[in-house]
Amino acid sequence: MSEPVALAADHGGVELKALLVKDLTAAGIPVVDLGTNSTDSVDYPDFADRLATALKDGRATRGILICGTGIGISIAANRHRHVRAALCHDETTARLSRQHNDANVLALGARVIGPEVARACLKVFLSTEFDGGRHVPRVAKLG
Ligand code: RB5
Repeated sequence: MSEPVALAADHGGVELKALLVKDLTAAGIPVVDLGTNSTDSVDYPDFADRLATALKDGRATRGILICGTGIGISIAANRHRHVRAALCHDETTARLSRQHNDANVLALGARVIGPEVARACLKVFLSTEFDGGRHVPRVAKLG
């Protein structure tokens, strides 16, 4: 997949975001970096909102959100009806978030998982398709 991917993080996720931006860029995947880009304290809902807007505008088709735990930023993102943000901790949850939930946003907790697990989650999230079938009406009920 080489459609643009948007990333946003609060101060708790800024380092991991930089790493993932670098990886995506090296892989030739266009990146929309929505900040934050410093360790100054910010409010994670503001960055979830930026990402939701980027998806709505069509600047990206999938998004990555990172905060300390991934919890706050995924809660905030899921307030937007067009967002299905999945907080994932391993490759299995990242894969199933695509296959069963057609998640369009991967949420990660930078203080909970290490960078290699985050990289593995991102890779499987971007390369796994929605299974469709019995999951279609269920996902439809989310919106
Ligand atoms: C920030 O200190 C922290 O609360 C935030 O990154 C996140 O973990 C919230 O859910």
